[in-house]
Amino acid sequence: MRALIDKLAKEQILTKDEFKKLLSCNEPYLHERAREARHQVYGKQIFIRGLIEFTNHCKHNCYYCGLRRDNAQVPRYRLSEEQILNCCRTGYDLGFRTFVLQGGEDPYYTDDILVGLLCRIKETYPDCAVTLSIGERSYESYKNLFDAGADRYLLRHETADAAHYGMLHPSYMSLESRKQSLSDLKEIGFQVGCGFMVGSPGQTLDHIVGDLFFIKDLEPAMVGIGPFIPHAATPFNQEQAGDLHLTVNTLAILRLMKPNLLLPATTALGSIHKEGRELGVLAGANVVMPNLSPTETRKKYLLYDNKISTDDDPRYARDLIDQKMQAIGYEIITARGDYIA
Ligand code: 5AD
Ligand code: SF4
Repeated sequence: MRALIDKLAKEQILTKDEFKKLLSCNEPYLHERAREARHQVYGKQIFIRGLIEFTNHCKHNCYYCGLRRDNAQVPRYRLSEEQILNCCRTGYDLGFRTFVLQGGEDPYYTDDILVGLLCRIKETYPDCAVTLSIGERSYESYKNLFDAGADRYLLRHETADAAHYGMLHPSYMSLESRKQSLSDLKEIGFQVGCGFMVGSPGQTLDHIVGDLFFIKDLEPAMVGIGPFIPHAATPFNQEQAGDLHLTVNTLAILRLMKPNLLLPATTALGSIHKEGRELGVLAGANVVMPNLSPTETRKKYLLYDNKISTDDDPRYARDLIDQKMQAIGYEIITARGDYIA
């Protein structure tokens, strides 16, 4: 197994069968080697991003997600521009220099509204990066958002296999359209993030390997990986959650494939195990994304059950993650944390 890990570190790619072996291995050296790769580029520093969940309205009906349109149990909300700017203020004072505006696909947010919001954030915080995570939009729309100052865009591809994509989404959604969006975003000049859930229903190791090859081709700046976690009010409520070990192995492999990748230890990872995010960082992750959303709205933004930090205020969340990272020898820093190409 060591020889295979060394080969991946050297060549940054493996064959399909070799990837499968590594994904399911139980070899501490994989994580050690991933940490080493990450230390060479980013040292022991962890970037923080302040997550602002600004709308939980969504026109889609993804089978895995608690915010899906058909879930009538969720009280829907939109934060006002002032509320969003307040989140930024709190975040800025706590040392955040990236704000991630995340929401469902909410048709209320026209380009005009978003451009106005971006301009106000960028005027107030010119030293901060803004990441958007608001789903599929047209090329023109993405261009308008980029021109208004958005720096990065997260759009998980969810799975690189069209048939598997079809098992996770209603038939009007397609992998082709997701890929088109990702390629538009890259062409426009965003630092782009893709990603997927580990253990989503119907996923096999072959699918994960397909995701690794897809990521190799796309060359994103970021990859968001977390375990699938069932949500009671979705068609997947009887499904198993994704495996912790497989998730951290996937992170370690990605780090070795691309030492400069921005790789978050996700909230979902922290939600399936109390030290999930630490284990993610110890497998090569270098980003954490604490929540800056108002405490009152957090319980309305549940993509899955048992999400952590739904009661924490931002200062507490920030202190907690500081302590957790220090305890394993890492240090959270105040910086935009751009991708080093
Ligand atoms: N479990 C884990 N992750 C989920 N997401 C949505 N629903 C779930 C779930 N039940 C992830 C998807 C989406 C991102 C915003 O959150 O990958 O792209
Ligand atoms: Fe909407 Fe995103 Fe949830 Fe799908 S995953 S239902 S697009 S919020």
